[in-house]
Amino acid sequence: MSSILVTGGAGYIGSHVAHELVDDGRQVVILDNLSTGVRENMPDEATFVHGDVGDYELVVRLLAEHDVAAVMHFAGNIVVPESVENPLKYYRNNTAATRELLSACVATGVGQFVFSSTAAVYGMPSAEELPVTEETPTAPINPYGASKLMTEWMLRDVDHAHDFRYVALRYFNVAGADPKGRTGQSTPQATHLIKVCSQTALGMRDELSIFGTDYETRDGTCIRDYIHVTDLARVHILALEALERGEESRVLNCGYGHGYTVREVIDAVKRVSEVDFDVVEAPRRAGDPPELIADSTKLREQFGWQPAHDDLDEIVRTALEWEEQT
Ligand SMILES: NC(=O)c1ccc[n+]([C@@H]2O[C@H](COP(=O)([O-])OP(=O)(O)OC[C@H]3O[C@@H](n4cnc5c(N)ncnc54)[C@H](O)[C@@H]3O)[C@@H](O)[C@H]2O)c1
Repeated sequence: MSSILVTGGAGYIGSHVAHELVDDGRQVVILDNLSTGVRENMPDEATFVHGDVGDYELVVRLLAEHDVAAVMHFAGNIVVPESVENPLKYYRNNTAATRELLSACVATGVGQFVFSSTAAVYGMPSAEELPVTEETPTAPINPYGASKLMTEWMLRDVDHAHDFRYVALRYFNVAGADPKGRTGQSTPQATHLIKVCSQTALGMRDELSIFGTDYETRDGTCIRDYIHVTDLARVHILALEALERGEESRVLNCGYGHGYTVREVIDAVKRVSEVDFDVVEAPRRAGDPPELIADSTKLREQFGWQPAHDDLDEIVRTALEWEEQT
């Protein structure tokens, strides 16, 4: 049986997809340098290779040795403020390393590719542009978003030049954990609101900060489209199946199409955990759009995707359960 190469499969989202692939009876090879990933979060059934996606020779060897038919590319750095302080780290690890990975795919004839892109490619969409569609102009405002958009451009151009098709998935705010408790968000430095709230509820942090309470939203705090990681993992399987059927390349938003304010998320975490933790109101952070919501019509229509976990309390419950067990 041919296999699927999952880069970054020891990370938060990659490990969920790796479990999903194994559940579907796929042969999975994970390539991860464990810079932020966790060995224990990967499925035992997967073959693990400790290495870097920017290592061209290694990747060429892996693609051939494991008869890889498709690549799912999660590996990368994801901390937006860090990307502002150290942009070249992001252009190296997210853009240049992906260039090496793509070269290896072209050299070995691997022509199916699923890529983790991000809503950060849209930058600060205006109120009139919400919810954002895939046609909303891309205008990243930080090196993280730019490093991912540059990868989208490479994919488009490689598709034009070679026998190569891809699905680029623009994730909105990914949250929650595997309902079976096999993996979750273990990334150090994670700044994701639901994770940080869960840690605060469980006493692992002293207090929670809200950055900005004077936005023009229903309660003054930012609104985001939170998608349960298991629903997102399913999208990857659908993307792979579309590529296997020979379907064309595409870019798709991944979100539910509605959102919650920071205060609503905090209330949900307090409600589900039954812990009333301290919340501090802090000034706005530069570069935070007031509202970011996906128009996911294309994803639903083209892949027949139907979320199974579109429920804030369930997202929070799985996130809390994961924090409690780690
Ligand atoms: N978490 C989110 O909300 C979110 C939102 C939008 C997009 N994304 C994208 O999804 C992907 C996965 O994010 P995540 O939240 O799972 O992050 P993560 O940090 O948990 O996972 C990234 C994984 O990649 C590995 N890695 C990093 N650089 C590598 C390299 N050069 N070679 C091999 N392995 C490497 C890390 O060890 C880690 O296991 C990223 O590409 C990210 O940009 C995430």
